[in-house]
Amino acid sequence: MSDSAAANLGGKLGAIVPAGFRLIALDAVGSTNEEALRLAAEGTAAGTVVWAREQTKGRGRRGRVWESPPGNLYCSLVLRPRRSNPAQVSFVAAVALANAIAALTPDQSVQIKWPNDVLLGNRKVAGILLEGMDGAVVLGTGVNVAQAPEGAASIAGAGGVGDIETVLHRYLTEFSQWYRRWEQAGFDSIREAWLTRATGLGREIEVRLPTETVPGTFAGLDAEGVLLLDTDRGVRRIAAGDVYVLDRSAA
Ligand code: BTN
Repeated sequence: MSDSAAANLGGKLGAIVPAGFRLIALDAVGSTNEEALRLAAEGTAAGTVVWAREQTKGRGRRGRVWESPPGNLYCSLVLRPRRSNPAQVSFVAAVALANAIAALTPDQSVQIKWPNDVLLGNRKVAGILLEGMDGAVVLGTGVNVAQAPEGAASIAGAGGVGDIETVLHRYLTEFSQWYRRWEQAGFDSIREAWLTRATGLGREIEVRLPTETVPGTFAGLDAEGVLLLDTDRGVRRIAAGDVYVLDRSAA
């Protein structure tokens, strides 16, 4: 943790996060997920948010690196879900994040690519990495606010409004509403909201798995968030992989 770490005990930092969250703001850290996992192991309360201006070892899904220069949002939220399928939190987060980004980028298309990439104008603008340990889960989120790697989108690049603090505040506000819905009513309403923003639904897609690439029609999600792919050999259920929409013009 950097020397300028500051726990949020109210005041200026308090305005960045909605009620119910506790903010730990850092100038720089290896990975906010790593830091949040460490705090979770020490018993930190659910609702603790680790936010860093930059990361030196930002990590993405499937062992990838998440480039984390200053200017974008990097945060990790500690949760202790009461429901039996904590992996569904990544769908809750994707819906919340897509709504927050849509509010900041009027007139732009904001979609979700399974399982939880947020797309702005068909290019990735944000990613989610859920990691867990001993009943706690850490929800890591990276949003391209001011800049984007090649081929990706940023909020500023799309003419959107809002600095990092605004994006964080909106995201957490949306997240607390959707999380409460999930905890009280289950996955169905999350699934429905997720599907309304899904890219490639009903279209030809390709799912890249570690050892094979499977083409088919994106038929939907099951009750657990598993992707249903209609293939030549019947419906295949896919729990993890990378989706590529093939008939993009029609998506
Ligand atoms: C993805 O591959 O799409 C997921 C990217 C998740 C990046 C965020 S940035 C904040 C948090 N800390 C990390 O090291 N990773 C996540």
